[in-house]
Amino acid sequence: MIGRLNHVAIAVPDLEAAADQYRNALGAKVGAPQDEPDHGVTVIFIELPNTKIELLYPMGEDSPINGFLAKNPTGGIHHVCYEVDDILAARDHLKEQGARVLGSGEPKIGAHGKPVLFLHPKDFNGCLVELEEV
Ligand code: CO
Repeated sequence: MIGRLNHVAIAVPDLEAAADQYRNALGAKVGAPQDEPDHGVTVIFIELPNTKIELLYPMGEDSPINGFLAKNPTGGIHHVCYEVDDILAARDHLKEQGARVLGSGEPKIGAHGKPVLFLHPKDFNGCLVELEEV
């Protein structure tokens, strides 16, 4: 059911420093910061030949990234995002398999303007999973 790895998201305590490191030390193609108020994050996408890295930084007091950075002050891998053809079919199948969908269970529009859902990390070996319809 899942397709390509769309991105790996890394929560960072300093967005500018992380972007500079990917640009200068790692020599990657780094995009511009984008605010995602619906998700409480500011993101920067880094284009790699085979996938993307999403740098995540909290936006606002209620950002879900604040708690993550409190537990992981130097930053850390926050989630992986897999592509699916049909997000509602994927959600329904996963619910049948016993996986918990976070939030209302309805897809939200993600950073690429496409519908996304998140799956409970406790149901996936401690890894928060994002699904994105492509
Ligand atoms: Co993501």
